[in-house]
Amino acid sequence: MRVVVTRRVPEPALELLRAADGVELRVSPHDRALEPAELHGTIAGADAVVTMLHDRVDDAFLDAAGGALRVVANVAVGYDNIDVPACARRSVTVTNTPGVLTDATADLAIALILMTTRRLAEGERLLRSQAPWSWSMSFMLGTGLQGKRLGIVGLGQIGTATARRARAFGMEVVYSGRRRAPEPLEAELAATYVAFDELLATSDVVSLHCPLSADTRHLVGADRLRQMKPTAHLVNTTRGPVVDEAALAEALASGVIAGAGLDVFEREPEVHPALIPLDNVVLIPHLGSATIETRTAMAVLAARNALAVVSGRPPLTPVAP
Ligand code: DGY
Repeated sequence: MRVVVTRRVPEPALELLRAADGVELRVSPHDRALEPAELHGTIAGADAVVTMLHDRVDDAFLDAAGGALRVVANVAVGYDNIDVPACARRSVTVTNTPGVLTDATADLAIALILMTTRRLAEGERLLRSQAPWSWSMSFMLGTGLQGKRLGIVGLGQIGTATARRARAFGMEVVYSGRRRAPEPLEAELAATYVAFDELLATSDVVSLHCPLSADTRHLVGADRLRQMKPTAHLVNTTRGPVVDEAALAEALASGVIAGAGLDVFEREPEVHPALIPLDNVVLIPHLGSATIETRTAMAVLAARNALAVVSGRPPLTPVAP
């Protein structure tokens, strides 16, 4: 069975694949996103492909892989890079890596909330610029979180973990999404289910945790930003295209909202040029799951999923077709 890994992943995952009976492992020698032609050449004849979030898995990918392909194991919880119905039509199982990156990503969401509300990146830039400064009662004031309202858009695993952390900071939690959470979870978080309009209009911090889909692309655009309080902050740790970046830059520059913290971008690795000069936006290069432990766990889970399917066992974390 030929298992292809499209980019270097932590060694424990490769060890698992190497040790599996009857597996011929091929790992891309490049630690970078492969161009479509390179990707298609690399996966030819594969029974399983371990993919990254920048690999586009579409009909062209599936044609290139050939009829032996049985599983695409994405090393990410998000799978907007994969045409899941196209995979289902060819009986190719798709898996992702939920759970193992929940804490790391929620930690980063909280870090961004603190960075934007307390102006931490701005303060750091000030010191590094060696500009003169001195402490005063009114120097670089931010806003506190205690008693403020956090609006979680998408109370899935990462949204829930972020809400738990925010509760420890004394924040009140409201959430919106397609479904209401089970009552015990609402009770634990003291969270209130509200319409998206109400969430935007009343939250002091809005944190995005919904997956990217046709429905959520540009979910937050100019009109939605205008619904937010002028003192509010927006945090995005899900996928860049959920926010209209040009509209966000405009809203930040003109004071429609107070600040933002972004870990993800519409056209990664590009960042919208209008965001770069703004002091009231924190820009982080997609580090949500970037801890040694988390990336190792993600790669190992993807490897286990690939091995399960090629050995005729059910995958651990399949994506529903
Ligand atoms: C994911 O798993 O979807 C993350 O964005 C990867 O860091």
